[in-house]
Amino acid sequence: MATWWQSGAIYQVYPRSFQDSDGDGIGDLKGIEARLDHLVALGVDALWISPIFPSPMADFGYDVADYCDVDPRFGTLGDFDELLAAAHARGLKVLLDFVPNHSSSAHPWFRESRASRDNPKRDWYIWRDPAPDGGPPNNWISDFGGSAWEWDAVTGQYYYHAFLKEQPDLNWRNPALRAAMMDVLRFWFDRGVDGFRIDVLWHMVKHAQFPDNPPNPAYRPEMGGMHAVLQLHSTDQPEVHAIAAEMRRIADGYDGDRVLIGEIYLPVERLMHYYGREAPEVHLPFNFQLIEATWDARHLAALIDEYERALPPGGWPNWVLGNHDRPRIASRVGERQARVAAMLLLTLRGTPTIYYGDEIGLADVAIPRDRVQDPRELREPGLGLGRDPVRTPMPWNDSEHAGFTSGEPWLPLGPDWSTRNVAAQGGDEASMLALYRRLLHLRRKHAALAVGDFRLIEAEGDVLAFERRNGDERIVVALNLGAEPQPFALPEGDVLASTRGGTPKSGVLRGDEGVVFLARPA
Ligand code: GLC
Repeated sequence: MATWWQSGAIYQVYPRSFQDSDGDGIGDLKGIEARLDHLVALGVDALWISPIFPSPMADFGYDVADYCDVDPRFGTLGDFDELLAAAHARGLKVLLDFVPNHSSSAHPWFRESRASRDNPKRDWYIWRDPAPDGGPPNNWISDFGGSAWEWDAVTGQYYYHAFLKEQPDLNWRNPALRAAMMDVLRFWFDRGVDGFRIDVLWHMVKHAQFPDNPPNPAYRPEMGGMHAVLQLHSTDQPEVHAIAAEMRRIADGYDGDRVLIGEIYLPVERLMHYYGREAPEVHLPFNFQLIEATWDARHLAALIDEYERALPPGGWPNWVLGNHDRPRIASRVGERQARVAAMLLLTLRGTPTIYYGDEIGLADVAIPRDRVQDPRELREPGLGLGRDPVRTPMPWNDSEHAGFTSGEPWLPLGPDWSTRNVAAQGGDEASMLALYRRLLHLRRKHAALAVGDFRLIEAEGDVLAFERRNGDERIVVALNLGAEPQPFALPEGDVLASTRGGTPKSGVLRGDEGVVFLARPA
């Protein structure tokens, strides 16, 4: 029997932008609760909520100042309990975002750690002496640009931050820190959460000797400063796996199939290690290949095949089209192909994660310079690395501010919100929302789609076609990744879904057409 996180679909909520309930222009927990029925109607099984914990918001919640509470902007612990109960009452699971690699510099632990060299929490963070010339201990670069080391004049050492200087990295080699963070997992599991998405899991342990990272021969400045070196010694260290395995043991100690999902941007071979070799680690190491892929049939076929082959025995696959850090799919491939992409995401073998707004075809929103919020953009402006465009408010209807807030939204809505919104698409059978609902419904109805085997049929020209099979049930998915018609012999059977509507023509896929077929048993 497949578990919910295998047969089901996950939906990512970016809480600042989902639904505001109190008019401050920032989404909150009560807002999410008020919109749960949208997720039920959509047909997803779980929501993952990006960080809701007390935070100075230097990185919009990925700088946590207290791992066991809720930021007042989002509500209270009581509001969280209510949201959890309301979700569970609807059959929805709730996943939180665990940010173990770094805390906020405002966390009491860091305040203690930086107070003096002999503070008991000194070693909970990563402190090093300067290089002989007084500069940073090595050449490691922050993912947001610039040195990853910040000088602390009070104690005369540098501390390491893989992201902002307001996000000092925690030292997972310290047993007391490790135990304290494991207790955070227990705190939320005890409250009833169904699992976690684990932030930058592959960053958690650094090389014990802190050697320089090698230069990146492919570096060009427009890639962002972090790419000047390869993160050989600052990420993906062997010791991380025992930590992930310990997290897994904690999750497995609870009833009801709790799940751990790891955020890991690594090549497939290295990604697979996070399923666990010596012992089980995360259930789902996020597979981000579709986020980075060129939109080409042969290329996609090759990466799907590579991924399927690389999976360890018992390792369950998963697929992602977008998240709060990367350009939206509708902007990457265009509106019509975004429908084809939705069909791909929801028919591949493995758990899909849907980014909020993608179900109505939301595109990146251009942010006027004076409204930029993201520290990524503010630190390295103009390179197109900023993430505000993919974090704009969810348009619910055509009332003021799209029903998102009664106040001024923290980021602007896109130009098309009065027509591209949930209410408008809900009543339109040809809409993106209707397509998502249809495909999610099919996954529930047809075990071949939810848990069946995968076999590639064809990757020719712009056509990507594959089969999903469970027992006698055989489903064929044929996708045209281009705008021109492509020859394709559709099998005998019934059309279950189409990105273009109408009846598919025999022997040809129309431009931008994707079709899901229930093949007639032979
Ligand atoms: C992850 C998050 C991203 C955040 C970073 C630092 O990559 O997805 O939003 O900025 O970690 O926590």
